[in-house]
Amino acid sequence: MTATVVRNIGQLITNSDSSLGIIENAALVFENGKVQWIGPNSSAPAADSSINAEGGVVTPGFVDSHTHLVFAGDRTQDYVARMTGSKYSSGGINTTVSATRAASEDELRETTRRLVSRARSTGTTTLEVKSGYGLNTETELKILKVAREFTHETTFLGAHIVPSEKINSRDSYIDEVKTTMLQAVKPYAKWIDVFCDTGAFSVDEAREILKAGIAEGLKPRLHGNQLGNTGGAELAAELKVASVDHCTHISDSALSALADAGVVATLLPGAEFFTRSEYPNAKRFFDAGVDVALATDCNPGSSFMTSMPVVISLAVREMQMTPTQAFYAATKGGALALQRTDIGHLNVGAEADLVIWQTKSFESIPYRMGEVECQTISGGVNSLKIS
Ligand code: NIG
Ligand code: FE
Repeated sequence: MTATVVRNIGQLITNSDSSLGIIENAALVFENGKVQWIGPNSSAPAADSSINAEGGVVTPGFVDSHTHLVFAGDRTQDYVARMTGSKYSSGGINTTVSATRAASEDELRETTRRLVSRARSTGTTTLEVKSGYGLNTETELKILKVAREFTHETTFLGAHIVPSEKINSRDSYIDEVKTTMLQAVKPYAKWIDVFCDTGAFSVDEAREILKAGIAEGLKPRLHGNQLGNTGGAELAAELKVASVDHCTHISDSALSALADAGVVATLLPGAEFFTRSEYPNAKRFFDAGVDVALATDCNPGSSFMTSMPVVISLAVREMQMTPTQAFYAATKGGALALQRTDIGHLNVGAEADLVIWQTKSFESIPYRMGEVECQTISGGVNSLKIS
């Protein structure tokens, strides 16, 4: 491998601390997939090849720690219903389950490849991808096999909802998730997740399912408190999961429990945007000392988007985050939510996942809401694969 120097960086965001660790007029060298040197442009060492950032901003690649990228079909009519006043509920998931069961592995691979490539073109270099639109062993396996071709951050979400054909045999579905399905998918999954919410799974069911996954070596994370304050966040703290995601409806005591347990709260403003729901106020999370991540939640029902710059704009405008907090949450926060120390920052030793933005200040990225052009370099060994 050869060394590459990125010169003439106007603002380098290293994320050495939560104020973003900005170095003005900087340069960066990477080699063998890792950041090898950062410092002033004037003392940049020579390297085998050179990239001119032309005074632009360089940031760590975004860590999108919550997506449901592998699915078939879309739910345009659900969106229209939302925008004409009907409330979002978990039931629409069944529509995507039918389409996904009917799709071939090749079809799923192609739609996933397109979404991954969109995400990468807007600065994402790490993606978590969940299953959850199969809800039978065969299709959950098909989804996770495809997901694994693109990322190691794969999550088994067999407990997304109880599928419509099992609605009268709920306990046997939960049993299947914990046994046959889990055994079949575990070689392709790193994480286990449950949608613990109104119309999905109860706290007791979620605890049981997560514990079954943990016993098989998967690491827990949780969808909680999206549709109601139904105890997901408290369970997340009890089990010390890596991250509890959504947190739209959350009490002050649950926030302190998350802070004490070191559980990241992943906020998903796309879901509030696309379902016309009230946004959580991120200031409450910061005041309580909770680590916050931002992610797209890319899925056809509640957040059909891949752009982390747009997520940041929404978080700043609608969730009372400062641009600094939002950038940190979309990079370092996502890394914390995936329990990764090698990504989400650009200090020496980090993965060489970086984005060169054609702008002078990082604040103009939320200001221009998805309009700032960028070049994504996913040079790290564990970087996003686009087949
Ligand atoms: O994270 N909340 C649960 N699951 C997805 C939405 C699934 C769907 O509506 O298809 C989410 O928002
Ligand atoms: Fe989700």
